[in-house]
Amino acid sequence: MFKKLSRKLNKGLGVDLGSTKTMIYQQDRGIVVNESSVVAINNRTDQILAVGDEARKMVGKTPPHINASTPLFHGIISDFEITEKMLKYLMDKVRAGRFSFSTKPMVVVGIPLDVTEVEKKAVEDVVMSAGASQVYLVENIMAAAVGARIPIQDPSGNMIINLGGGLTEIAVISLDGIVNWKVTRTAGLTLDRDIIKFARDEFNLVLGEMVAEDIKRRIGSALELEEPVIMQMRGRDVMTGLPKEFDVNDSQIREALHKSVQHILDTIKATLETTPPELVADIYQKGIILTGGVAMLKNIDKFIARGIEIPVHIADDPQTCTVRGMGVILEDEILLQDIVIPSSQ
Ligand SMILES: Nc1ncnc2c1ncn2[C@@H]1O[C@H](COP(=O)(O)OP(=O)(O)OP(=O)(O)O)[C@@H](O)[C@H]1O
Ligand SMILES: [Mg+2]
Repeated sequence: MFKKLSRKLNKGLGVDLGSTKTMIYQQDRGIVVNESSVVAINNRTDQILAVGDEARKMVGKTPPHINASTPLFHGIISDFEITEKMLKYLMDKVRAGRFSFSTKPMVVVGIPLDVTEVEKKAVEDVVMSAGASQVYLVENIMAAAVGARIPIQDPSGNMIINLGGGLTEIAVISLDGIVNWKVTRTAGLTLDRDIIKFARDEFNLVLGEMVAEDIKRRIGSALELEEPVIMQMRGRDVMTGLPKEFDVNDSQIREALHKSVQHILDTIKATLETTPPELVADIYQKGIILTGGVAMLKNIDKFIARGIEIPVHIADDPQTCTVRGMGVILEDEILLQDIVIPSSQ
């Protein structure tokens, strides 16, 4: 009874610690944090200077005593202390935003599919030391499926592909469980690097990470566009070290991204090849759902659909599916019990 009451007063949080984005969902409020997974720290004083999008703007522009970095690498915590600082900062901010309740919140947090026990424990520990009362682990891809309103409880095959920044996760779900899956580290950040490499090889131009990402979002595509587009690409000339600008079009960027998107497609094919035929039949009939930020890459749905000859649908607001799914899980105790992963403790 007391537990129920305290849970009612003390709104639970859903935490999506992504390779590029950290999002937090608060029960009854919705998404309260949607920030870049970047922290800027003053090494001299050990103080946090900025967290999130503000810190990301500092990447590549800091003096030696300031370090602006992402503490997650391909979905895994690579720097425990900085991840903890980042999460504590964001969770405190969320709590300060409400009338002051002093008890700590329960937290549902996601993990990637191919984590080790040590990596799993690191996620639990980081959330506890950032100020949670209790931690429930779920697979990110399960949360994404819930957020995309896929009927995961049905005895029928559902294929979901989460195209994230550091990981592309592919899973076949049936009866609340993952029947088959594959993961590749070819994801959004790989596409940014492809564009950086293209600019260097073709134009002797050094691009910043944010410029490359901007090009990807604006004119990047997986298949030919209806209307060709051109944009200016600004960087530094390798030879002279001076700023320089070139026009770049969608076809050049598509070519630059091709190898990576093809690799993602091959991984999807490999997943289908090892999926039981009954489930493949269901997937064929229902189609595949795309979530994650890279689901917004132009024509990625058509590219995949053409490659596997199965219909492909992009979830509504694909980038927030994982954290919104955590919100649904927070509200539904039975669902939580069904899909929670046993704690490493
Ligand atoms: N319109 C767009 N076109 C192409 N890519 C996009 C677009 N919008 C966002 N992205 C990319 O989506 C990626 C981030 O997606 P998402 O937030 O799902 O990843 P994440 O959760 O941080 O990472 P992960 O789940 O892999 O740990 C970034 O690489 C970003 O550049
Ligand atoms: Mg993600």
